[in-house]
Amino acid sequence: MTMSGNFPSNHNSIRREDYNNKSLEEVHSFDVVLNSEEIGLVNLLKPDPIVVATKLLARRTMKDNGKQFNMIAASWIQFMIHDWIDHLEDTNQIELTAPREVANQCPLQSFKFYKTKEVSTGFYDIKSGYLNIRTPWWDGSAIYGSNAEKSEKVRTFKDGKLKISKDGLLLHEMVLLCPAIFVMAGLAFSHCRPSSSWSIMLSVMPSRYGLLGKKFKDTFGHVGGAILGGLVGLRKPENHGVPYSLTEEFVSVYRMHSLLPDHLLLRDITASPSLNKSLPLVKKVPLPNLVGHKGEKALTEIGFTRQMVSMGHQSCGALELWNYPLWLREIIPQNVDGTDRPNPVDLPALEVYRDRERKVARYNEFRRGLLLIPISKWKDLTDDKEAIDTLKQVYGDDVENLDLLVGLMAEKKIKGFAISETAFVIFIIMASRRLEADRFFTANFNDETYTKKGMEWVKSTESLKDVIDRHYSEMTDKWMNSTNAFTVWNAPPNQHNLIPLYLRIPH
Ligand code: HEM
Repeated sequence: MTMSGNFPSNHNSIRREDYNNKSLEEVHSFDVVLNSEEIGLVNLLKPDPIVVATKLLARRTMKDNGKQFNMIAASWIQFMIHDWIDHLEDTNQIELTAPREVANQCPLQSFKFYKTKEVSTGFYDIKSGYLNIRTPWWDGSAIYGSNAEKSEKVRTFKDGKLKISKDGLLLHEMVLLCPAIFVMAGLAFSHCRPSSSWSIMLSVMPSRYGLLGKKFKDTFGHVGGAILGGLVGLRKPENHGVPYSLTEEFVSVYRMHSLLPDHLLLRDITASPSLNKSLPLVKKVPLPNLVGHKGEKALTEIGFTRQMVSMGHQSCGALELWNYPLWLREIIPQNVDGTDRPNPVDLPALEVYRDRERKVARYNEFRRGLLLIPISKWKDLTDDKEAIDTLKQVYGDDVENLDLLVGLMAEKKIKGFAISETAFVIFIIMASRRLEADRFFTANFNDETYTKKGMEWVKSTESLKDVIDRHYSEMTDKWMNSTNAFTVWNAPPNQHNLIPLYLRIPH
């Protein structure tokens, strides 16, 4: 076994294959007596994350989402994630090596990465935690930065506007703050002028949750507290006596790399759109070419309109087993400053390891924590016979060991849902907590913070489509058949809805 870092010096003598197949009790009585650190190590590798990634996650053929979500949705979610979270790493390096049984199916025979930095919380019950280097609020920090110094670099301090480069795009510094991938979304939205549209879009999502409240308040004034008045616009943040932070569970359910396809399907925007506003495909650009520095350049060449329309017309990947992009099994991660690291990582294996390392409960325990019914056999999770056979191969009959990420992908989805019920419950729980805790939706939800124009926009904007409309009306008229900018743009528009907006579920 090749694991380096602060593991006990005799760890190299522990044969991983031997330990992985043992229960903890057996491990205790296995050829050496293990200390608690070693037991932790066994748990981290049980079953081997590279085996899990190879047998249950790696994409066989691309499965998409039908018309439900497009590539703008995938890049938007990722962009949001990097607004909220990025874990601080330790200086200790870990190395994982592919076990013989799967080695010939792995692009990397081994890979190295840094441990997540664990810090003491000073609390009695939860003793340690992990540091987030981004502000956890919905504050646009993926663009504005998470501290005053970064913010000063990118803002004009005039009318709430950002500095824009000569070609009308975000400054390079801001793009670097954006995640590896979608530079795409970064470039895309940065074109919206004035640039405070960014903030507006950021506030649109949560203010949709609060819309019922807003309409109610506009009509009846401030009566009935947060239940009737909505969470956006509370006079001050409400933390219920607990300092606000994002939970590790929240991070884990956003592990949605399977949304990514293998190619960006470039459309010919000079052709006449068909009846449903579809456009001919001109080129398939491998997605790895659009990541990082080279991606920034390639996307500038593609141009904003072509990129946006192409992403709008392309379905993103389905959150299912065997749909994790293979190109992410040898991806070069980036440093916080946007520079490339020297070595690639096997991302699906790393993700399985990360959840275990950060002590996120495995699937069944995770569900118990949410008062959801746990599974007692594989059949409870899925009807797919091949999936059941492979789960048995990897986990035996021990359903308690099922990794969260695998469970989320394997779970039978509720009809019409792209995400699992387990993930959905976390989103629901966190939605109200985050709005109540965020000064940008409470104490600072005002003209002074957003500008007068900005506040007008927040109040009159219901969706991404409105934002695009405001700045690129030609785009929605000409190429968007759908009602929602996050669904595939050639989808039929929604029927006229007689239910008032404030009684509808936000989309
Ligand atoms: C080109 C596209 C992408 C690339 C190259 C990429 C790459 C990465 C890398 C290298 C990490 C750090 C892994 C680690 O050390 O723990 C990461 C973390 C993560 N990614 Fe992605 N990613 C991409 C797109 C996405 C998308 C589309 C989503 C979700 C919709 C997503 C969600 C996450 C989450 C939740 C984390 C964990 C963050 C943390 O632990 O702080 N990523 N990604």
